[in-house]
Amino acid sequence: MAQVTALLLVPLLTLLLSVSGVISTTFTIINSCDHTVWPGILSNAGVPPISTTGFALQKGESKIITAPTSWGGRLWGRTLCSLDSTGNFTCLTGDCGSGKLECSGFGKPPATLAEFTLDGGEGLDFFDVSLVDGYNLPMLVVPKGGTGQNCTTIGCVTDLNDSCPSELKVTSSGTEGTSVGCKSACEAFGQPQYCCSGAYATPDVCKPSTYSQRFKSACPQAYSYAYDDRTSTFTCASADYTITFCPTPNTSKKASQGQITASTPKTTTTETPSVNSAMIYEGALGESNASPHTRGQVSGSHAIVAALSIALAIWRSWHCRALF
Ligand SMILES: *[C@@H]1O[C@H](CO)[C@@H](O)[C@H](O)[C@H]1NC(C)=O
Ligand SMILES: *[C@@H]1O[C@H](CO)[C@@H](O)[C@H](O)[C@H]1NC(C)=O
Ligand SMILES: *[C@@H]1O[C@H](CO)[C@@H](O)[C@H](O)[C@H]1NC(C)=O
Ligand SMILES: *[C@@H]1O[C@H](CO)[C@@H](O)[C@H](O)[C@H]1NC(C)=O
Repeated sequence: MAQVTALLLVPLLTLLLSVSGVISTTFTIINSCDHTVWPGILSNAGVPPISTTGFALQKGESKIITAPTSWGGRLWGRTLCSLDSTGNFTCLTGDCGSGKLECSGFGKPPATLAEFTLDGGEGLDFFDVSLVDGYNLPMLVVPKGGTGQNCTTIGCVTDLNDSCPSELKVTSSGTEGTSVGCKSACEAFGQPQYCCSGAYATPDVCKPSTYSQRFKSACPQAYSYAYDDRTSTFTCASADYTITFCPTPNTSKKASQGQITASTPKTTTTETPSVNSAMIYEGALGESNASPHTRGQVSGSHAIVAALSIALAIWRSWHCRALF
């Protein structure tokens, strides 16, 4: 009897250990801004959804979200949100158009995005920070406990609100008011050379523009236009992630990036053929192989884990020898 049980348990145990290593990924979202941020989350089509699509984070607050292994999608911060007299919830930047705290679609550009494709191939998570839809908040993505050559902290910690060229700038009210965001050239001008659309829909043809280059020099690890993959896509194996809005800028880092930003001439012209687009992401995520492996539901996995733990305890009580 004990032997039979052991025979059954060994493969089960192997399964348990391999499954439990990859059950889920956690995102810790931290608001280090001096104001409230309302994160919005959009899951990619065809992946298991995440438990929330939008919530408020007061300054200094954080929230932990658990994502299923094969999850993919984007996360951004909405700013300057309010509820009007009819109960309609809207935000000045990143608004998702739902009229509610929860989202059911994209955030309106400009918005700094964090994008993830968990378990996107060879056991790796693909992630990036993107300015393809413009910029509204500084953001840092820090992988924790992951491995891999490209498993590093990424983000855009420079303030691009103020250094934004006037033709891309979004202000709180009309042409006056404080700047609250910086559009991408694609969003601002809608031209194929910035959006990598039409005749510019391939990486060979769609090159960086003077606009995207500004974003790139301010935030070298972030996507500055649709085909910016080479320097902007990062990978980790079995990591959890911390996403911080308004991270305390790294002093050394800030100094060098601040310099680049400050010395970038304000005069920009549109002469360069090129880049930039709201579609970027789709391409990038598509290429990185959105969700090839579907795994069991998290709740299902938890049930298996629980059942196997009990079985393991019983088995151990029969075999006093240490197994591990
Ligand atoms: C909510 O407000 C937004 C922005 O003012 C507007 O576009 C939208 O139609 C409103 N929705 C409802 C249900 O009133
Ligand atoms: C940019 O403007 C937004 C308002 O949308 C603000 O919350 C954010 O803190 C500003 N960024 C910086 C670096 O100040
Ligand atoms: C990822 O790592 C490889 C090998 O070290 C390197 O060549 C590549 O540039 C890295 N990618 C990014 C986006 O840093
Ligand atoms: C901050 O800068 C130091 C020195 O350049 C570096 O070692 C550290 O990793 C940086 N921290 C972050 C969060 O980028």
